[in-house]
Amino acid sequence: MRMYDIIHKKRQGQHLTKEEIKFFVKGYANDEIPDYQAAALLMAIFFMDMNIEETTELTLAMAHSGDMVDLSPISGIKVDKHSTGGVGDKTTLVITPIVASCGPKIAKMSGRGLGHTGGTVDKLESIPGLKTSFTMEEFFDIVNKTGISVIGQSGNLAPADKKLYALRDVTATIDKIPLIASSIMSKKLAAGSDCILLDVKCGSGAFMKDIESAVELASIMVNIAENAGRRCTALVTDMDVPLGENVGNILEVMEAIDVMRGHGPEDLRHECIELSAEMLHLAGMGSLDECRNLAENSIKTGKAFDKFVEMVEGQGGDSSYVTDTSKFEKARYTHEVKALKSGYIVDMDTEKCGTSAVVLGAGRKTMDSVIDFAAGLKIKAKIGDCVEEGQTIAVLLTNNEKSLKEAEKLYLEAIVIGDVKPEKRLQVMARVDKHTKTIY
Ligand code: URA
Repeated sequence: MRMYDIIHKKRQGQHLTKEEIKFFVKGYANDEIPDYQAAALLMAIFFMDMNIEETTELTLAMAHSGDMVDLSPISGIKVDKHSTGGVGDKTTLVITPIVASCGPKIAKMSGRGLGHTGGTVDKLESIPGLKTSFTMEEFFDIVNKTGISVIGQSGNLAPADKKLYALRDVTATIDKIPLIASSIMSKKLAAGSDCILLDVKCGSGAFMKDIESAVELASIMVNIAENAGRRCTALVTDMDVPLGENVGNILEVMEAIDVMRGHGPEDLRHECIELSAEMLHLAGMGSLDECRNLAENSIKTGKAFDKFVEMVEGQGGDSSYVTDTSKFEKARYTHEVKALKSGYIVDMDTEKCGTSAVVLGAGRKTMDSVIDFAAGLKIKAKIGDCVEEGQTIAVLLTNNEKSLKEAEKLYLEAIVIGDVKPEKRLQVMARVDKHTKTIY
C-alpha cells in the first residue's frame, strides 16, 4: 500500500477502506509517513469529505493507536462527559459531583484550555494542592474510595490524534466535521467509560457556528459511540454568549461552587441540571424527569457540594479554599469596561470575549505560557440586557497590568449595542440520541 495512492483516491472523492485508513493512522503515528503526505490527505478529506463508515474507522484507528483504558477495576457504571469547548464553560466542575453523589462513578480524563476556550484541568489546578496527574492504580483507587476523579489525559491516550491535531492546527484543517468527530471520539472511546454525554457547543464562541452543523456533528459522534458499544447522548447548547458570568480559572471555580451551593447564574444552573439529568439517565438511574429531580435534589441537600469537597481532597487539594472561597488569590489589577453607547446588547462575539480573557492571562498564548489563575473577566451585562452609555459591562482582572489595554479593546470589539431587544435563545438547542434527533 502507498500513501500516494491513498491521497490520490481521496482527492478524487472516493471512499477509503478500513485497511487504507489503518495504514495511514498507524504509519503517521509511527513516524513512517511524513507530515507533508499526512497534511495532503487531511486537505483532501477537508474538501472531499468522509462518510460515516470512514469516520468510524478513522476514530477506531486513532483510539487504538495508544492505551485503551480498562476501567473494570472500578466497580459500578462509569459515565463520562465531553464538551466541544466554549467560553466560561465550567459545567464539568458542577455536574460530575452531582452525578457521582447520585451513584454512578466518574473516572474522567479532561483537557487543558485550547485557543480561546478554557479547560477543566487548568481550572482544577487553580485549587491549591490539587493534582491532576496520577498513575492508573492511584486513579482507580481514588474513584473506588470517593466515586469521582477528574484528571488530565494520560500521555498515551490516542497519540495518533495528538499528532494529527497538531498538524491540523497548522494546516487550516481543524474545522471539518469528520475530523473533529473522530478526534473527540477517539479519546472518549480510549478513556473507557460505559456512557458518554456530549455537550456540543453552538454559536460564535464554538467550532460549530450554526445549529445544522452542530446537530450533524452530534449525530455522527453519537453514532460512532453507539456502534462501539457505548451508550451516548448529545445536547447542543448555546455558545453565542459566554456561559455564566465569569471567565477565568479561579473565577470559574468560584462560580461553580456558587451553583453547587444553590446559587449562581440562571443559564449555568439550568444547563448543569440538564446535562446532569442526561448523564444520570444514560447510567440507567430513571426517566429524564426522575433524573432531573435527582440532580436538583443533589444540589438542594448539599450532596453535590460535599462530593466536590471529597473530590478535591481525594486529589490532594486544600478544601478550605472551596469551603471559604475568599481565600483564593485575587488579581492585583482590575479595570471596568464601560458601554460606549446606550441600548440593548444585541450580539457578543464570544470567541473574542474568550481571547480577551486569554490576553489577561487566563489561557495560554503559546504552548509554554504560564497561566495566571486569578485572571479573567467578570461579565456584568449579556445579550438582551439594556445598558446606559458609561455603565460597567465587564470587569477585567489580571496580574499583568500591561494586558488590560488590549483585553479591553478586544472586549469592546466583541460587544454590539443596538436599539431592538433581541429574542432570547434557548440554552439547550437540540438533543440527539441513537433513536431521535430533536431541534427545540
Ligand atoms: N476538540 C478535539 O479534541 N478535537 C477537535 O478536533 C476539536 C475539538
